[in-house]
Amino acid sequence: MSADTIAVNQQMSHFDDHAELWLFGYGSLIYKADFAYLERRPASIRGWTRRFWQGSHDHRGTPEAPGRVVTLVEQPDAVCVGMAYLISLDTLQHLDVREKNGYLRFVTEMQLDDGRQVEALVYIATPDNEAYLGPADEREIARHIAASAGPSGPNRDYLLHLTDTLRELGARDTHVFEIERHLLEIATEEAAARTRKHAAV
Ligand code: BEZ
Repeated sequence: MSADTIAVNQQMSHFDDHAELWLFGYGSLIYKADFAYLERRPASIRGWTRRFWQGSHDHRGTPEAPGRVVTLVEQPDAVCVGMAYLISLDTLQHLDVREKNGYLRFVTEMQLDDGRQVEALVYIATPDNEAYLGPADEREIARHIAASAGPSGPNRDYLLHLTDTLRELGARDTHVFEIERHLLEIATEEAAARTRKHAAV
């Protein structure tokens, strides 16, 4: 499947007769919303887990050197904590363009932090899209993130904004926090190597 998912997403008619809908964010949407919304609150979905398995050609990397960003992978009984936005139908057009790099619209049940259970839309990049990178060990993912940057900024900032917000939400996410631990270790090792190099000249 092409990484450009705008046309496929705009064929989905599930929400066409809704004036408003709930959107579940689990990646950059957790910490940043560059669109209008009516309500924003912590939420979770069941049966999906976050993974740094999607390539980013347009935000945190380039077509020649894609970065790594999150997608969701099915896992029975997993709970993924994120951020919910109540948006108007018009806002979806904007999101289809912003999240065009391999992400498809899915519909899921979502639990809001005030106890409400609602239907929500979520963007998920599945393994059949061209930008998909798939699994790698967490140290390798951290190395990849440390070395990547794109029009939206360094890939490491994406990871660190995500972990900061997950901490604020009290979310446990072993995969993401393990990558952060490796990234910070790599940064310390690189700084020490630079110091040694300067001391040697
Ligand atoms: C999210 O934060 O949920 C998200 C961001 C970019 C693409 C897909 C999902």
